[in-house]
Amino acid sequence: MSNTTPTHAPGAIRKKVTAPGVRARKGREPLTMLTAYDFPGGKLADQAGVDVILVGDSVANVVLGYETTNQVALDDMIHHTAAVARARPRALLVADMPWMTFHVSPQETLRNAARLVREGGAEAVKLEGGKSRVEMIRKLVTAEIPVMGHIGLTPQSVHAAGGYKVQGRRLEDARRMIDDALALEEAGVFALVLEGVPAPLAQAITRRLSIPTIGIGAGPDTDGQVLVMHDMLGLNFGHYPKFVRRYADLSREAVAAIDQWIRDVHRGGFPSEEESYHMIDAAALELIEEPAGTDRAIGH
Ligand code: KIV
Repeated sequence: MSNTTPTHAPGAIRKKVTAPGVRARKGREPLTMLTAYDFPGGKLADQAGVDVILVGDSVANVVLGYETTNQVALDDMIHHTAAVARARPRALLVADMPWMTFHVSPQETLRNAARLVREGGAEAVKLEGGKSRVEMIRKLVTAEIPVMGHIGLTPQSVHAAGGYKVQGRRLEDARRMIDDALALEEAGVFALVLEGVPAPLAQAITRRLSIPTIGIGAGPDTDGQVLVMHDMLGLNFGHYPKFVRRYADLSREAVAAIDQWIRDVHRGGFPSEEESYHMIDAAALELIEEPAGTDRAIGH
């Protein structure tokens, strides 16, 4: 396949995406990664032709209604990952390791990641953080679990950082982030998410690494882009960061559709003849007809 052939071309024979395949896309056709949290989400993302489906811990905010991603548990992530896995996506299926599942020890990190793979069907895991995660990442890579890194604005750090803030705007912070990126590459991650990073810094990191970077709020010069599905489809009932482009307003369409159904029910227009089941044996109706004089009409 040439570098410019879109992998999502209708009718194209599309090969299963793997972690080494994503790794090999460095400097080639830009990668697309989208979140999904359930079976229909997985089907939609895959039918559209994304390269990577991320079962992000953003499920906490956009699906489960929690305030922060730190409130989602490993069992929740396994549950949602398994639902997406049942869509049998062509896309690589990556599951986020939730907060505190990769902090205590390399052994515990491995046990938790293995549950995402064995019980959830994940084909790779993603975890947030820089140099301090190197030991954990090495443990997973040695056990042949592909790992995606995630630095910059890491939502699990919300309390330590004092909010959700763009990272790396000052020289010292930018240097530290470049060091983190290099350390993660050295530890063996196959791709690196850069979130909430000034565009020139994301470009500089992308140029220095031999693995692909996937940006979100990190400008156009990364090797790929990732968005939260509910943000891009207009299904998020919370905050929309400035980097989100809404490609649809499905909340509005959904409310309008439900409203129309309510009106149809109220005016007796739903269900129609075609939407109702009929008796095969019309004579059987006599058996269930009400005796004359009884008044048991629906609504009485
Ligand atoms: O949880 C998530 O959705 C993420 C993406 C924003 C990269 O980590």
